[in-house]
Amino acid sequence: MAHPRIGVIGGSGVYQIEGLADAEWRQVETPWGWPSDEILTGRLDGIAMAFLPRHGRGHVLAPSEVPFRANIDALKRLGVTDVVAVSACGSFREDMAPGDFVIVDQYIDRTFARAKSFFGSGCVAHVSLAHPTCARLSDAAVQAAEMAGVTVHRGGTYLAMEGPQFSTLAESRMYREHWGADIIGMTGMPEAKLAREAELCYASVAMVTDYDCWHPGHDAVDVAAVIRTLTLNSANARALVARLPALFGDRPEVCPCGCDRALEFALMTAPER
Ligand code: ADE
Repeated sequence: MAHPRIGVIGGSGVYQIEGLADAEWRQVETPWGWPSDEILTGRLDGIAMAFLPRHGRGHVLAPSEVPFRANIDALKRLGVTDVVAVSACGSFREDMAPGDFVIVDQYIDRTFARAKSFFGSGCVAHVSLAHPTCARLSDAAVQAAEMAGVTVHRGGTYLAMEGPQFSTLAESRMYREHWGADIIGMTGMPEAKLAREAELCYASVAMVTDYDCWHPGHDAVDVAAVIRTLTLNSANARALVARLPALFGDRPEVCPCGCDRALEFALMTAPER
């Protein structure tokens, strides 16, 4: 069995990891610039952890301003093998209610103003994204959520929008009725794509904060509603994160899903040019 290092990318609601031994905030520069903030490293139940606040401490970066490439690269440089990404989302399904957690397994990427690849400019690669999250890690996230006593949905399609404005009613209805999206957020992409290119296992834990604006029985989403639900449920998110190390002690040497070998058949550019 290998020694994992778990990377947690915290979104709204998770702003640090409590109880870390040898906790230290570390600056990590990358060829893609600086990540969103310093990265908190330490050990939880003997497992190495690294925590990065996606929007920076104090929530200072808008979704379009998050340096996704630097964030993923910085975690990789710190030896992270498994990334658990936590974020807030709106729901398109009655049964995915505010306070529930969704372990994402598919994405529709509608973002357009973000750098989305480490490749290009002389080195071309096309990784597979048919299954954009790691099933092994996602199973662990489901278990962690169940142990934390949270209502969790295994699988869901996440519509990633550019923002920062919320959706129009026409968009919300289209995503829900015609596109088959289950939840919506502003940060899931290109994070998942870049984690795959970096050969990291990646699981996404999305916390439902609202019903966006499609639901006739609920007001259209606003920041106050998002913060209210996050505040009520952030203890659940932290409890989930706290359970992760216990589930990760026995990481297999190679990931059965192949996330750690994503580039094996992806490079197009001839090696000796
Ligand atoms: N984050 C939380 N709720 C959201 C929504 N309804 N749309 C986009 N991002 C969100």
